[in-house]
Amino acid sequence: MEYKIVNARLLYKESFLEGEILIKDGKTHRVSKNIQENLPKIDAEGKLLLPGLIDPHAHLRDSLLSYKEDFDTGTSAALAGGYTLLLDMPNTKPQIDSPERIKKRIEEAKGKINCDVGFYSLAFPNSDFSSLFKAGAIAIKIYLHKRFRDEEWSYENLRKVMKELSKFKRVLAFHAEELDPPFELDKYDVFLHSSFHDERAEIRAVKKIIDLAKDYDLPIHFCHISTPQALEEIYYTKLKGLNLTLELTPHHLLLDDSYFKLGNIALVEPPLRALEDVMELRKALYEGKVDMIGSDHAPHTIDEKLEEKPLPGFPNLEISFSLLNTLTDKFDVINLIKLMSINVARRFGLKKVGAIEEGYKANLFLFDPKEEWRIDPLRFLSKAKYSPFQGFLVRGKVKKTLLRGNIVYEDGVILKRGLGEVII
Ligand code: DOR
Ligand code: ZN
Ligand code: ZN
Repeated sequence: MEYKIVNARLLYKESFLEGEILIKDGKTHRVSKNIQENLPKIDAEGKLLLPGLIDPHAHLRDSLLSYKEDFDTGTSAALAGGYTLLLDMPNTKPQIDSPERIKKRIEEAKGKINCDVGFYSLAFPNSDFSSLFKAGAIAIKIYLHKRFRDEEWSYENLRKVMKELSKFKRVLAFHAEELDPPFELDKYDVFLHSSFHDERAEIRAVKKIIDLAKDYDLPIHFCHISTPQALEEIYYTKLKGLNLTLELTPHHLLLDDSYFKLGNIALVEPPLRALEDVMELRKALYEGKVDMIGSDHAPHTIDEKLEEKPLPGFPNLEISFSLLNTLTDKFDVINLIKLMSINVARRFGLKKVGAIEEGYKANLFLFDPKEEWRIDPLRFLSKAKYSPFQGFLVRGKVKKTLLRGNIVYEDGVILKRGLGEVII
C-alpha cells in the first residue's frame, strides 16, 4: 500500500507546512511540499493533518462490563474523536491485576479493537511487576481511594510498590483522592453520596504521594487533577527535579459545579469544582504547567447514571479534541497536539507515534478547525449516549482518521474494523 495525501496543512516539526505526505507500508515515508511520484492520492482539501491523538486515560470496559462499552464501540468512539491509541484503565470486571489477566485481556482485544490500545494493570504491594510487564502491561495504576483485598494504601504499602517499581522505567499512575479524609463532610456529599471527594482529599493524596516519591526514582503520573492547589503542588515539585507528570480532563477544564444542575449525568470522580478553580486550571494550562489531557472516557448505562447511587463518569472520547480546540483562543492546535499526543507518547515510552515524522506510524487524522457543530450524544459511537456537554457548540471537527495508513474512520462511519494492535 503506497499513496499520498495532498493539499494538506500538516503539522511537521512543530509548525504547519502546506504540503504532501507519502504513506508506505503503514508509515509516514516522506513529508515534502511536493511528492513527485505518481501515486494514488487523497485530497485533504486544505484541512489540518495531525498526528493521531493518544489518550493516557480511557475505560474501554468490555468483558463483564460489555453492557456499558466494549472494545468495538469504545475504540470506534476513539477514532471518531481523532484518537489512534488509548491506554485502557484496569478497573474492569474482572479487574486487571495479574499477568494471567493481562494476557487474557490482550487475547480478547485482538481482532476487536479499531485503534491501538495499551493496557494498565493494578498493583498490589507484593505484585510481581517483572511478570506483569512481560505479560504486556504498559503501566501501573493505583486508586488511592479504593481498598484492595480489604487493605488500604498505607505509606508502607505504597513504599513497597514504589521500591519494586523503581527497577523498571514504567509509569505509576494515581487516582489521587484520599480514602477517608480526616475532616467533616460537606456539600459535595449530598451530591456524591460519599465522603471522600472533597478538594482536600485530592490535595492530601497528592502531598502523600509526593512525600513518598522523594525517596524513589520512578516516573509518577497524576490522573485527572481537579484542584489548582494539587496542580501547583505537583508543578513546583516537578521543577525541583522529581519525575512527575499530571493530566487534566476536558470536563474539569470546561465544566464547573453549576453543572450539577444536570443531576447525575454530571457526576464524576473527582467531581466538578467551583468556577474559580476551573479558571485557575485553565490559567495553568495556558501557562504550560500541564503535561497532558486525558479523556477519562468512563461510560455507564443511562440507568446506572440515574440510579439512586449513580455511577461516576461519562463518555468523552468523541468530543475531547473539539472541546479543547474551542477553548483555545489563547492556545493553538500545536500546543493541543503536544498535550494530547506527543507528550503522552514520550511519557509512556510509546514508540514511533505522536508526531508526523519519516518512519513513524501513519496514525493521523484530518481536522477541519473551523467547522462548528453541536454536541449530540445520540450520535456517539460509544454505547453511552449522554453527556454533560450535550448541546455545546464546538469548533473543529474530525473528518477522517488513519491507522497505519488505513482510512478507518470517515464522517461518522467506521470504515475498517479490527485493525488495532495491542501496544506492549
Ligand atoms: O468518574 C470516574 N469514573 N472516576 C473514576 O475514577 C472511575 C471512573 C469509572 O471507571 O467509571
Ligand atoms: Zn480516576
Ligand atoms: Zn478514569
